[in-house]
Amino acid sequence: MFPTPEEIAGAVWHLRAGRLVAFPTETVYGLGADAFSAGAVDAVFALKGRPGKNPLIVHVADVDMARGAVADWPREAQLLADAFWPGPLTIVLPKAANVPDRVTGGGSNVAVRCPDHPVTLSLLTAFGGPLVGPSANPSGRVSPTAAAHVRAYFAPQQVMVLDGGACRAGIESTVVTLTGSGPRVVRLGVVGAAEIAKVLGVSVESGSESGDGTGAMPSPGMLANHYAPRTPASLVNSNAILTGLADRTRTFAVLTRQSLTNETPHTLIAMPTDAAGYAANLYAALMRADAANVDAILIERPDISDGDPLWGAIMDRLQRATA
Ligand code: TXA
Ligand code: MG
Repeated sequence: MFPTPEEIAGAVWHLRAGRLVAFPTETVYGLGADAFSAGAVDAVFALKGRPGKNPLIVHVADVDMARGAVADWPREAQLLADAFWPGPLTIVLPKAANVPDRVTGGGSNVAVRCPDHPVTLSLLTAFGGPLVGPSANPSGRVSPTAAAHVRAYFAPQQVMVLDGGACRAGIESTVVTLTGSGPRVVRLGVVGAAEIAKVLGVSVESGSESGDGTGAMPSPGMLANHYAPRTPASLVNSNAILTGLADRTRTFAVLTRQSLTNETPHTLIAMPTDAAGYAANLYAALMRADAANVDAILIERPDISDGDPLWGAIMDRLQRATA
């Protein structure tokens, strides 16, 4: 099922020609392009319809490659890389001079991450340099967690897709910035702030409050309506799910943890009860719900009482999907 070495070589050829290659990661699929080619990076912004001020994550095969994209690699970065790479942690540091300004949205800092997926690690190694990789979706839409999702968003002429199967974690990496006086999480994700604090031995600020475009945005891309399906979606309690299903005048797609039998005209989508399972399935469920062509999506508020810190990142995404 995974791409053959010939397909990886073909993808490298594409990238060298300045074209785009979608790659699998453990979080979501990324829209890859040569991070040092301003033209290729421009093509990524254009295809996504992404505002130029929203910086891209630079993906690397290892710490050596990361060092080539940043001005300085402090001890904190090394500790985090030792603990979490390859893995779902993105580290923001002052950028190296040769990283094109459009990668960083005109800013002086660059985000670097080493993804934990064998296909993309081979791609990065074979390409021999860093690749930008925003989630492979049009700006503002739900991130893809399967190759089929990427193919549903973009045409084969626009992007070559490397199929690495379904993404294990299912929501985006945690973004931590080391550019201030102390480490600060600017996007909640798979790695918890407490885990980062433990590795660094200092407290970690978490500034991932929903940016609404009016105040200072902790991370330039964190607009409140990110990760949203096109169908209106709301986060509701369990009773509202039953009330919705009894309503025959409208159609709903329902994301629920209750075991209910399918009730036409509605579409039922079963959600796992554990945080890891919920995260892994969330975006595929939202895309299925969107594709069902219903009047509205009802998302049952998950039971987060097991205290898994991953629920924080999941609730962040649910709030955005229903904003
Ligand atoms: O899991 C992930 O991170 C995925 C996979 C493909 O690696 N990528 C991803 O990229 O989610 P994207 O572009 O959809 O989200 C990147 C986030 C945005 O919120 C952006 O604002 C933030 O990272 N970011 C990127 N560069 C930054 C920088 N220099 N300073 C602060 N935030 C930055
Ligand atoms: Mg994204």
